[in-house]
Parts: sequence; C-alpha cells; structure tokens
Amino acid sequence: MCGIVGYIGQNEAAPVLIQGLKKLEYRGYDSAGIAVYHDGIQVVKTKGRLADLDAKVKEMGGVKGGMGIGHTRWATHGAPSDVNSHPHSSMNGRISVVHNGIIENYLQLKAELETKGYVFQSETDTEVIAQLFDYYYNGDMVDTLIQVIGRVRGSYALGILCQDKPDEMVAVRKDSPLLVGIGKQENFIASDIPALLEYTKEYYLLNDNEIVVLKKDGITILDMDKNEIKKDIYHVDWDISAAEKGGYDYFMMKEIMEQPEAIKKTISPRMVDGNIRLDDIQYTEQDIKDINRIHIIACGSAWHAGIVGKYVIEEYARIPVEVDLASEFRYRNPILHKNDVCIIISQSGETADTLAALREAKRQGIRILSIVNVVGSSIARESDDVLYTWAGPEIAVATTKGYSTQISLMYLLALKFGHVRGYVSDDKLQTLVTELQQIPAYMEKLFKNEAQWKALAKTYAFANDVFVLGRGIDYAVAMEGSLKLKEISYIHSEAYAAGELKHGTISLIEDGTLVIAIATQDALYEKLVSNVKEVKARGAKVIAIAKEGNTEIAEVADTVIYIPKIHDAFTASLNIIPMQIFSYYVAVERGCDVDMPRNLAKSVTVE
Ligand code: F6R
Repeated sequence: MCGIVGYIGQNEAAPVLIQGLKKLEYRGYDSAGIAVYHDGIQVVKTKGRLADLDAKVKEMGGVKGGMGIGHTRWATHGAPSDVNSHPHSSMNGRISVVHNGIIENYLQLKAELETKGYVFQSETDTEVIAQLFDYYYNGDMVDTLIQVIGRVRGSYALGILCQDKPDEMVAVRKDSPLLVGIGKQENFIASDIPALLEYTKEYYLLNDNEIVVLKKDGITILDMDKNEIKKDIYHVDWDISAAEKGGYDYFMMKEIMEQPEAIKKTISPRMVDGNIRLDDIQYTEQDIKDINRIHIIACGSAWHAGIVGKYVIEEYARIPVEVDLASEFRYRNPILHKNDVCIIISQSGETADTLAALREAKRQGIRILSIVNVVGSSIARESDDVLYTWAGPEIAVATTKGYSTQISLMYLLALKFGHVRGYVSDDKLQTLVTELQQIPAYMEKLFKNEAQWKALAKTYAFANDVFVLGRGIDYAVAMEGSLKLKEISYIHSEAYAAGELKHGTISLIEDGTLVIAIATQDALYEKLVSNVKEVKARGAKVIAIAKEGNTEIAEVADTVIYIPKIHDAFTASLNIIPMQIFSYYVAVERGCDVDMPRNLAKSVTVE
C-alpha cells in the first residue's frame, strides 16, 4: 500500500528514486511522484503509472539534485489524480512529504490549520503532515518531527524534505514499513528491500517512532527523546535478479515457476533424517502437548493457507483449530484460553489487520507463532516465535509462491505436532515426510502441462461466471483458485464446498456456465463425481482436476487435468498449480495487467 523511497548522495537523485519506485510499484500504482532538492525543492508528480512519471521527467530534460524523495500511490483519501499524488508540500512550498499509511485525525488537524490560514489543495490525509510540519518548523527537522508525531494518530512511514536543509532529510515510521539503506557516500530509505538492492545490501530496520536523520555521509537514528540508538546492520542474502522478471512477461509466471525451489528451501532444512525439526521455534515437547486450541489468523490467500492448515492440523495433531480473518478477529471479542496458540500467517509481515489481530491476541497473553516471508517485518518482530517461509521476494500482487510455502509449513507443523502428541507414529511420519519431499518434483512434472491449461484459458477467457468446487482440503484450494482467477482476470468467480451447492447456488448454473471441480481427495472423490453430474445435468461446462488414475471423472467432465498421485494431505500443493496457470493465461487473454491488477496493491498496510 504505497511505496516510498528517499535518496541522498553524490549521484543524481531522480534516476535512483524512479528506479527504486519501479521496484515498489507492486505496492500501489494509482500515481507516482518525486521531490528533488537543488536550489530549492522541485516536485514532479502525475496520476497513473510510474512510466507516466518517468516520461514526464524525461520530457522536462530530467530533474537535477542529489537529494530527493519519491512515492508510488495506492489511493485511500481522494481519488487518483495529479493533485492527490505525493509528494505533498506545505502551502509555501517549504516542506515536501511522502507518506505510506493513514492519518486518522487528519480532518481535525486540517480544520485547525485552516483557522491558522493554511490552505489545502488535495483531499489527502498526507497534506496535513506537510502543513503541520511547516507550522511547527523551528529550524530543527528532528524537533519539528517530534512535535508532528505528537499530534497525529494513525500509521505512517514518512520521508520529509525542507527547503532550508540542502543536505539532510528526516524519516520515521509507525505501523508502516520503512528500511534505511546504508551506502558509501550515499544513503537511502525505502518501504521494501527490492528498491535498495541495486545500490546496497545493507540496511537498518526501524521500530515505531524511531527517527532517522539521513545525510550523504551518515545516518543517525534517534528515539523520541533525541537519544541516539545503535542498530544492528541487516544484510540481504538475495541479489537483484531475485527481484527482476528474468525473461518472463510477468513476475507472476516467474514466481509460479519458482515454487518448487521455494518449497525446497522452506522444508528441506527442517527435515532431518526423516524427522521434522523446527529448531527456529522455542516449543518444547511439553509445550506442544499442552496446546489447547490453535487460532490461525490471516487475510486473503494467507487465510486460505490457514484453512489448509486447519484440515491437516486437526487430522494429524488432533488439536482443534479455528481460522479467522484478521479483520474479523480483531473486533469480535474472541474467547482465548491461556494454553491456546495463535498462528499468524503473512507473506509481507506488514498486513495492517493481521498485525492488529496479533497485537490483540498478545494483549490477551496468547503465545504467537508467525509464518512470515519477509525477514524482520513487523509481524515477525512482534511474534514470540517465527517460522520463515524462504520464498524470496514476491513481487506480483497475486501471491503464488508465498501461499505455497505457507501451506508447506502447515504440513510440517501438523506432522510435527501430531508426532509429538502421539497421533503420528514413527513409521507414518517417515512415509508422510518422504511423500512431502516429492512435492517440488511433482510440481515440475505438472508444469509440463502448461500448454494444455493455456489452451483452456483461451477457450474460457470470456466466461462471465466461474464456480470452483471442492470438498475437504480441495475446498480450501477452490477458494484460493477462485481468488486467483477473479483478482487478476476480473471474472466473477465463487468457490463452493461441493456439497453445499444444492442448498442455493446451483440455481446459478445454466447452459455453458464454467465449473471447475477439484476432486483430488480419495475419500471424497466419488461424491465429487456426483456433484459434477449434478452441474452437468444443468448445462455446465466442467473442467475437473483429479489424481492420475482416477479416470471415471473423465466420463462426466468436459476436460480433466490430472495431478500426480500424492497423499491426500498434500494435494493442495499440486492442484493449485493448474488453477494459478489457468488464471494467469485467462488474465493475459483478456489483456489484463497480471502483476498489477486494478484497485489492488500488495502488502495491505491500511485497515
Ligand atoms: C491474493 C493475495 C492477498 C494476500 C493478503 C495477505 O493473491 O496476495 O490476498 O494474501 O493480502 O497478505 P500477507 O500475506 O502479506 O499478509
């Protein structure tokens, strides 16, 4: 949700800012802008994509100056427009601000500033920061920022320039991500690592309300009492190619293809001699035996991964599991027991609702185990224990490898907890672990059928509605597959527990309606075949997904996609692959921007 960058150094700032914003465009793409200092602050901004900003800057013959801030926007307050684009400036042009987050009390502050003669141009909450900073400005950027922070409520990552300060910028964060990149005779701020990678691999992480003073030759980090804070330096261990398309048309396809490798990296170090070792979390065997109930909390696809988790944890560890949407959990007064555990799932580790739910559970004294991809993210740092998914950077807005690695960790937790609690014998563990290790190879095998799914996508690209059916774990995958399709192709799609269809939704099935039936659970296979017959009888076109060898379904479905025979517990890792690739090609066929679907952004850092 909005990306911000800042640069100060010996090079021209504008190209660095634009390059950095390119890597953050997945966070929002309603507008883009930069402010660069050179004998004063020059702001260039425009509604639309970064390419529009780049063109505007080139048309102007470039923007000179060695210090600047930049922003790519996901609109919250005020429609996408030139005037609502960041950076925002104070009325007199002295202050320039980029912001990621939401200032909740901006209307009250705006009214107050208006009585003091400040005139506002935009509908945004951010403009209030620029004007308030100007109002309190006393020649000292840090003092002023502390006063401003004292007045605002909400979430923010801010980068601020002042006309009087040619060689320093200030930055701060609260509940929105911000990193500080450490260079040589140049320094950076950015919402996420990919923006820094071309210039440095070393960075600082900031805690809430730590203030950064960024100069060409130094970085100072202060607390709200202006005491200097010594921070650890973090090092990124992937290189720039991880955040590039690498010959693919879209990041999404690259990330789909990276799934086998991402899963290997996530599970292999945690499987030793046929046993599961979760050394990165501090759970003793007794802790595991004492777990009373698990609450899995997440949003979107991560929530779907949680539903897969419920099935496998209940099956193997016999621990009751509730799966909550973070946005509901945080406000629903949940009943928590001291021996309950909360599992928080988040690729970005910054999702605002998920973070708030984590804090609510923590406030009630519940132990938090998080499953997170971004190292050092807020959710990771605020959890008692973290299991990282080693998926590498995920840039496409629609998650693929993030989701797949999350469900892989669900399997490990289920089997580990089940083994410790005595429900999974040594032999059974051995068998299941061996099967689990096959997933990456099975995925590679599945990729060979890409052409079949591409052709299907061509046939059905202009469907009006798509229903995705499944039972058990297949139902969880139906939800994820349906989300993939609708978010990138904009086709209306619904996931349905196949047994529920006849309780209402079947009335929507008519001649030619596309139904995708996921039938990969052995115990439920025959029931799914019957459900396919029911929709076929109402005129539906059916694409079925089934395990190799289960050929009866071919007699009722129009097309069958086969996945390798794998244990029922792990089918979710395989049957999502055709769903991802089918959705991808449907979106391409419809001319959609696969990586940056309309109205969306990755890393939802607002409520
Ligand atoms: C859909 C998708 C989203 C995210 C959700 C949670 O493809 O990516 O539904 O899964 O916004 O994001 P994280 O996992 O970053 O908390």
